[in-house]
Amino acid sequence: MHASYFWVAEASIYLGAITLRHSLNDFLLRAGGHIGYSIRPSARRRGLATWALAEVLTEARGLGLDRVLVTCGDDNLASARTIEKNGGVLEDVRATGLGLTRRYWIAL
Ligand SMILES: CC(C)(COP(=O)(O)OP(=O)(O)OC[C@H]1O[C@@H](n2cnc3c(N)ncnc32)[C@H](O)[C@@H]1OP(=O)(O)O)[C@@H](O)C(=O)NCCC(=O)NCCS
Repeated sequence: MHASYFWVAEASIYLGAITLRHSLNDFLLRAGGHIGYSIRPSARRRGLATWALAEVLTEARGLGLDRVLVTCGDDNLASARTIEKNGGVLEDVRATGLGLTRRYWIAL
């Protein structure tokens, strides 16, 4: 799907990336969601994923979306917290092609 890609950087140092998919296909609705992110191990636990997700929610609002689906592995505590801290409401936990997946909606 059409998507916007952003890097998280500090000066010229790459710290991570976050992707906003502008719409969902069947696979993304089931498992992948609108937004995916990762922070390099040396920069984790500084609040960067929480901050980056909040920034991208503003972008999503700008695209006219009224809610976004954000998913993570059922055992990915860090990602689940990142989503919950940004207002994610758990719809369900389901078996998907990515394994057991937590599916959250964030209202914009
Ligand atoms: C998930 C990920 C992006 C989180 O990035 P981060 O910048 O470290 O996250 P933050 O610092 O914003 O922390 C968010 C919350 O998760 C918690 N957290 C972070 N790492 C954690 C860990 N290893 N175990 C438990 N909780 C963790 C933080 O404490 C914080 O919650 P709190 O405010 O209640 O304490 C990062 O761990 C990562 O890149 N993981 C590998 C890729 C990945 O899983 N991407 C998501 C796919 S859905």
